[in-house]
Amino acid sequence: MDDLKAKYLTQIAEAGDENALEAVRLAAVGKKGEVALKMRELGKMSAEERQVAGPALNALKDEINSALAAKKAALGDAALDERLRTEWLDVTLPTRPRRQGSLHPVSQATEELTAIFAEMGFSVAEGPRIDTDWYNFDALNIPGHHPARAEMDTFYMHRAEGDDRPPHVLRTHTSPVQIRSMEKMGAPLRIICPGGVYRADYDQTHTPMFHQVEGLALDENISMANLKWVLEEFVKSFFEVDSVELRFRASHFPFTEPSAEVDIRCSWDNGQLKIGEGDDWMEILGSGMVHPKVIAAGGIDPDKYQGFAFGMGIDRIAMLKYGIPDLRAFFDSDLRWLRHYGFSCLDVPTLHGGLSR
Ligand code: PHE
Repeated sequence: MDDLKAKYLTQIAEAGDENALEAVRLAAVGKKGEVALKMRELGKMSAEERQVAGPALNALKDEINSALAAKKAALGDAALDERLRTEWLDVTLPTRPRRQGSLHPVSQATEELTAIFAEMGFSVAEGPRIDTDWYNFDALNIPGHHPARAEMDTFYMHRAEGDDRPPHVLRTHTSPVQIRSMEKMGAPLRIICPGGVYRADYDQTHTPMFHQVEGLALDENISMANLKWVLEEFVKSFFEVDSVELRFRASHFPFTEPSAEVDIRCSWDNGQLKIGEGDDWMEILGSGMVHPKVIAAGGIDPDKYQGFAFGMGIDRIAMLKYGIPDLRAFFDSDLRWLRHYGFSCLDVPTLHGGLSR
């Protein structure tokens, strides 16, 4: 029996792969293997002999089985190691430039402006693109009969016949997020909300879906001067220049009082858009001091808190910064356009690392 044991343990140790090991198993402890044959001989033995040989054979069988199992596990580990060695992938290799997707200019501009406003202490808020007309209009001091509703070329959601709840709308601006943020977070408050908005309008600088970023700062001591400083700092950082010329024009919005629209100096020579020079102005945002009624609609005491708000066109400032002449091409999903105007998705814009380099 010692010879049997020595023979099979050696064969097991020497088996080079799972097939060889299986052959050893069959020859040793398989149904017709050598140990089974020996077991059959037990019947011919005397009772005394059997009492010694029986347990010894069983012990031998157990020993061979556990050697087989151990070797099988070792072979499995080795096979896995071998696979890992041949199938390795270097994830630190640069991606293949031709296969690399790119960031859309709107996403890039959103990342950049978020980095800038974050530095000034604004956090990012979000709201739904389909909203009730209460959030989109009423809470913003635009009651049902107000001409601003018509001016905004609103897309109304269809209601089933007989359903006379007020309609939902595709939000026409990001201003409803002012109300939602006030309700959720109270005052003091400093948020921006970038996102898509919708209006029925279409030409070289208007598309039915476009992007705005809302800004809102509420506190006990905020004035128009804070608004002007924040916007000037933003515009300088965003366009990565020491000075840009802004024009504040008195204007009117139902949800701010006083209100100002802000234009940026630019030129449109030969269809090429340039910022900071030329005789043209491009409107980039609406702004003002938040109307007390709006603060109250957000559940905040307007006698204690006041603040400023602005709504800026993200697509507009992306066109200006990256020199893209036609807004309509933004949303055509033309791969050649995306490759030309897209940004590397591996460069995250930060103020210290550079915004768009
Ligand atoms: N919601 C306005 C628009 O879309 C912009 C705006 C926002 C104006 C906040 C003032 C304050 O035109």
